Amino acid sequence: MTQKQLKDSTAYLQSKGFDKPEIGIVLGTGLGKLADQIENPIIAHYNHIPFFPLATVEFHSGKLIYGTLEGKKVVVMQGRFHLYEGYDFIDITYPIRVMHQLGIKTLFISNAAGAINLDFNKGDLMLIEDHINLQGGSPLAFKGVSKYGERFTDMAEPYDPSMRKKLLEIAKNENIVLRQGVYASVVGPQLETKAEYRMLKIIGADAVGMSTVPEVIVANHLNLPIVAVSVLTDECDPDSLEPLDVQEIIDTAAKAEPKMVKLFKELIKQI
Ligand code: HPA
Repeated sequence: MTQKQLKDSTAYLQSKGFDKPEIGIVLGTGLGKLADQIENPIIAHYNHIPFFPLATVEFHSGKLIYGTLEGKKVVVMQGRFHLYEGYDFIDITYPIRVMHQLGIKTLFISNAAGAINLDFNKGDLMLIEDHINLQGGSPLAFKGVSKYGERFTDMAEPYDPSMRKKLLEIAKNENIVLRQGVYASVVGPQLETKAEYRMLKIIGADAVGMSTVPEVIVANHLNLPIVAVSVLTDECDPDSLEPLDVQEIIDTAAKAEPKMVKLFKELIKQI
């Protein structure tokens, strides 16, 4: 990544009409539907954006969509990049830097995650309060990082407290169960062993997934306030672990998706 590449990616999108979006939104696995509600959409396929990583994962449609949602200008990532696809930390967080260059002031993130906290149920939403990075690296560990922001980025409060509070209020008003907890990120793509689920519980994770944390680190590095929600797609009980296939994860995420769409749309209205 260079500053020139970031500029070229941004200029391409601006030339297509991506004009000063206020909010960036990352849609996770099985959670692409919010994009259908964008008014006057302009679509840029990842593969057409200069210097964007090339999209690979089958079940992600891989596009950046600009338009209006609840009267606000938004840019939505339908599908994200994962380490398990063979990208590095810089690649997977490149789109966050591009959205920042486009001018977003706030970042919304969603993902599908496994429930480690067994008080939570499959299909519940969980507001991420904090995280544990178990991906073995950092998107800020590169030469020249200080040109882009603070190298030693503070992570005392990586998820914006006031937006979290707002989202909890919205969930209450809408009668949507919104759990709160700690998200642990792993590389994947294999799911965890029983011993790994036990470990995740012991170290204080409430949910586990294969994304989000690198994006959140970069957003903090860029001083972008974040709100992030996990859709809990399976219950990770080490004492009665059922085999799980990825289609079940996708199906459960899709079923819970309308709740997430409602929360995000209300929050957009209120900020
Ligand atoms: N691990 C376990 N279950 C999951 C995950 C994961 O990374 N993502 C979604 N469900």
